[in-house]
Amino acid sequence: MATTLTPVLSAYWDHAESWTLDTYEANGGYAALRTALSMEPEAIVAAVKDSGLRGRGGAGFPTGLKWSFLPKPDGQPRYLVVNADESEPGTCKDVPLMMATPHFLIEGIVITCLAIRAERAFVYVRGEVVHVFRRLLQAVEEARAKGYVGDDVLGSGRGVDIVVHSGAGAYICGEETALLDSLEGRRGQPRLKPPFPAVAGLYARPTVVNNVESIASVPSIIENGADWFAGLGTERSKGYGLFSLSGHVRRPGQYEAPLGITLRELLDMAGGVRTGHRLKFWTPGGSSTPLFTDAHLDTPLDFESTAAAGSMLGTRALQIFDDTTCVVRAVLRWTEFYAHESCGKCTPCREGTYWLVQVLRRLENGQGSEEDLDKLLDICDNILGRSFCALGDGATSPITSSIQYFRDEYIRHLTEGGCPFDPVASTLFAGAAAR
Ligand SMILES: Cc1cc2nc3c(=O)[nH]c(=O)nc-3n(C[C@H](O)[C@H](O)[C@H](O)COP(=O)(O)O)c2cc1C
Ligand code: SF4
Repeated sequence: MATTLTPVLSAYWDHAESWTLDTYEANGGYAALRTALSMEPEAIVAAVKDSGLRGRGGAGFPTGLKWSFLPKPDGQPRYLVVNADESEPGTCKDVPLMMATPHFLIEGIVITCLAIRAERAFVYVRGEVVHVFRRLLQAVEEARAKGYVGDDVLGSGRGVDIVVHSGAGAYICGEETALLDSLEGRRGQPRLKPPFPAVAGLYARPTVVNNVESIASVPSIIENGADWFAGLGTERSKGYGLFSLSGHVRRPGQYEAPLGITLRELLDMAGGVRTGHRLKFWTPGGSSTPLFTDAHLDTPLDFESTAAAGSMLGTRALQIFDDTTCVVRAVLRWTEFYAHESCGKCTPCREGTYWLVQVLRRLENGQGSEEDLDKLLDICDNILGRSFCALGDGATSPITSSIQYFRDEYIRHLTEGGCPFDPVASTLFAGAAAR
């Protein structure tokens, strides 16, 4: 049983003032940058390719390969954009990472800019997390004062500047091309691809867009070597990652572990589900990944195994729900989120998510009919694969998977004239759990 955690990014979150430059340097921080400055850019890209690092923002695209798509330098600007929008229900790894150890991200940004020959990076932070925005601004200034960021990084003659940008709070601005439109000052809506950002991204210039955790993982690869990273995880899902356990679990939080660990192992370390209750369903990677049940406790949490079992690794946001939870109510809440966050650009998602909410509401209230289940599946079928971006696809995941595993529970709402669950029993408010 793999009870071993692999704390790298979270190694000293419990140190006093873990977020300061002093603490970071005391723990070996910025040594990787010095190593990277002695390397050719191509060698940095090769190391990240060899490590097998795959994007930690959800889709798992190989990071080094993405960097290698940039065209040859033409003397004009090229950019790194860090996606720190983190807005999906359940997903909560980048915010704690940036709060606890922002210099991992900053060191990763500078190394990545050296690798892709960019002189300016942007960090697009979710609008609501003002505390993260302030922490990053402070950390960039600390790094600038020490020469890690600026016109002449550590006297190397190479310049890297970092702009921290706050969004206005929209889930769609986490989609990489909507993010770029938003960063340019426009309303955030996905762009038609191609051209891909690598060719024409921010200000129509070659751009790499990567997740916070992807970029923050780069210093450890340069410092410890590609082989070290590739030696963790599974054959095709290499390395470590933050697994965020939330909901009905006794010790919720971030568990940094090799990819391929199982929920059973993570739950062992997290003290299990609430006392007196059993696991009912869970998301392996946030609300846009199809639900799993207790039958999937031993599914290795890597890209391939989660896909083979009918879901996705996503952002490793493990939302745990015990037997007090009404699955219809949970799915309704997620669907309300998707309907609210749909940007409106394409018809299947704009109209479909609205109707999904209407049908789910009447089912939850016991006012629907059995045909409504077919209607839900039909609407999902018209959204999935027919929407302009992955938000529409994601909106269908909780619905189709919950009907697959919990059809009987939907029917109970009809036969019992309403929701058979007491919503208070599933809350985590003091006293409620004891009921
Ligand atoms: C609706 C939607 C929201 C997204 N939100 C995020 C986000 O908050 N953070 C993130 O890194 N990627 C998000 N993504 C994925 C990005 O489009 C992109 O794939 C990712 O930033 C690439 O980084 P990576 O290769 O390092 O994973 C989102 C995608 C969609 C469709
Ligand atoms: S799928 Fe939804 S969020 Fe994406 S472009 Fe269409 S309307 Fe906008």
